[in-house]
Amino acid sequence: MISKKMAKTLNQQINAELYSAYLYLSMSAYASHINMPGAAKWFFVQGQEETTHAHKIYGYLLDVGEPVTLEAIQKPPVTFKSVLAMFEAALSHEKKVTALINGLSNQAAGEKDNATQIFMQWFVTEQVEEEKNATEIIARIKMAGSSTGALMFIDKDLGHREFKG
Ligand code: FEO
Repeated sequence: MISKKMAKTLNQQINAELYSAYLYLSMSAYASHINMPGAAKWFFVQGQEETTHAHKIYGYLLDVGEPVTLEAIQKPPVTFKSVLAMFEAALSHEKKVTALINGLSNQAAGEKDNATQIFMQWFVTEQVEEEKNATEIIARIKMAGSSTGALMFIDKDLGHREFKG
């Protein structure tokens, strides 16, 4: 069993993960719109992964016998300044998610809730990967500078991302 307070925070995290999915789907649509098909694919896959994050928490709440409460999902931005601006926004968003995940992990530790603490470990590790990925892509785009050819090369590479679940 987990506390009602913990169940509430986990439900809020489902909403945060679904907002992330929505945000990245919006970025994917915009990347398609500005003819960056590789970035569009990358953000689309990122959105799919965020949905699986929400599903993991959804499954956990059901496993521990707590209700799942789905709230309204906030509208994401529709337009972005550039592909670089999108990845910078993605990194900034992931830093906020990391703070939420760490908060959940700390709450579980504070409540001596071992099950939730162990469950959250996967998310803590995942956030390291997510911040690293966005940081590396931002660095590569900055290196490309004003070279359209280099940007096209990066875009092609981003398009190789596959959904792994
Ligand atoms: Fe599910 Fe990007 O954190």
